[in-house]
Amino acid sequence: MKVRVGVIGTGRRGKQHLRQLAKKQDVEVPAICDILPDVAAEAAKIANSRSYLDYREMLDKEELDAVVVATPAPVHADPTVLALEAGMAVMCEKPLAWSLKDALRIVEAAKRTGQICETGYQWRHNPLLPVAMEHLGDSGIALVRGVWYHTVPLVESIRDVSTGGGQIFDQSTHIIDLARVFAGDVTSLYAAYTLNARSKADFDNYDNWDGYAVTMNYESGAVGSFGSTYALFLGHGEPVTLDIVGSEILVKVLGEKIIVITPDGRQELGSDMEGFTAQSDIMGNFVKAVATQDRALVKSPPADSVKSLATTTAANLSAKTGQIVSPDELIRRAGEGEEVPAI
Ligand SMILES: NC(=O)c1ccc[n+]([C@@H]2O[C@H](COP(=O)([O-])OP(=O)(O)OC[C@H]3O[C@@H](n4cnc5c(N)ncnc54)[C@H](O)[C@@H]3O)[C@@H](O)[C@H]2O)c1
Repeated sequence: MKVRVGVIGTGRRGKQHLRQLAKKQDVEVPAICDILPDVAAEAAKIANSRSYLDYREMLDKEELDAVVVATPAPVHADPTVLALEAGMAVMCEKPLAWSLKDALRIVEAAKRTGQICETGYQWRHNPLLPVAMEHLGDSGIALVRGVWYHTVPLVESIRDVSTGGGQIFDQSTHIIDLARVFAGDVTSLYAAYTLNARSKADFDNYDNWDGYAVTMNYESGAVGSFGSTYALFLGHGEPVTLDIVGSEILVKVLGEKIIVITPDGRQELGSDMEGFTAQSDIMGNFVKAVATQDRALVKSPPADSVKSLATTTAANLSAKTGQIVSPDELIRRAGEGEEVPAI
């Protein structure tokens, strides 16, 4: 029997997911939803779906096994919680929510309903990650270091920090999340951001920083350093990088590629396997998890991804206040009812 998946939010990312779903033999997409009629009508053609302008109506009328939520972060929690409560599995895009209070609503609903719930951190589905972990063995991690060089975002809502949350919150969240796989949870951090190379006046709706530096302490004893920028240009050629340093071993995660450097030499993982590509197939794993109820295929459940959200929220707060901030402390405050928004 085919897995019936609905998609809520069919903008840039939602359409990418729809195209993936449309290619899968074991999936049908009976319904999609977007508040913009033209966007919904166009998206409905991709997988021959019924289209809705209101996700509540879609969840009410359609018999679905799962939904993908690809709306902007402030609109993640309501549809995700409603779908979970309606007995559907959910793949909700990153970051988990705009505020930690909303994120905790998702964590609670996933726990209460027992439904499969995945966050859209697709890099966690790279099959080479466990291989890299094996290479690191039981070496302590000395340092994780992440870099994401980018230009002023093309999407207007991301360009403005008040709707996008800034580069650490929206984009570098991927490598900050991935670093937690290796180094564990962040216990405290200090961030400094600047707007020093760009000028707000040079771009429409550009109200953001252009340089971000964050220093982290991890529960494992590791330290971390992350640098991001919006000051560069498209096509600069520098890969998104996450370096993990253990005892006499450097693991470099460069997008889908993973390189291990030891005193024995430099090895690109997977390159010795004929026809191998390290494509991370989050959607394939999600659909399989729904069909088989195999929870091992869920790599980023909300109970975990809320910690990545708390880390990037803590970075934004630290940059604003000049204080050292603990992500756990922010989760505690949200648990007591404080909103704790991205910015
Ligand atoms: N995992 C990744 O690599 C990745 C990449 C890009 C975007 N994203 C995430 O995907 C999400 C969407 O980003 P995007 O770039 O596609 O944004 P987008 O603005 O292109 O698309 C969002 C869509 O959601 C629709 N929408 C808003 N409110 C709605 C509602 N109440 N009901 C139904 N539809 C609604 C909008 O009309 C729009 O079409 C964000 O959370 C973003 O962070 C993830």
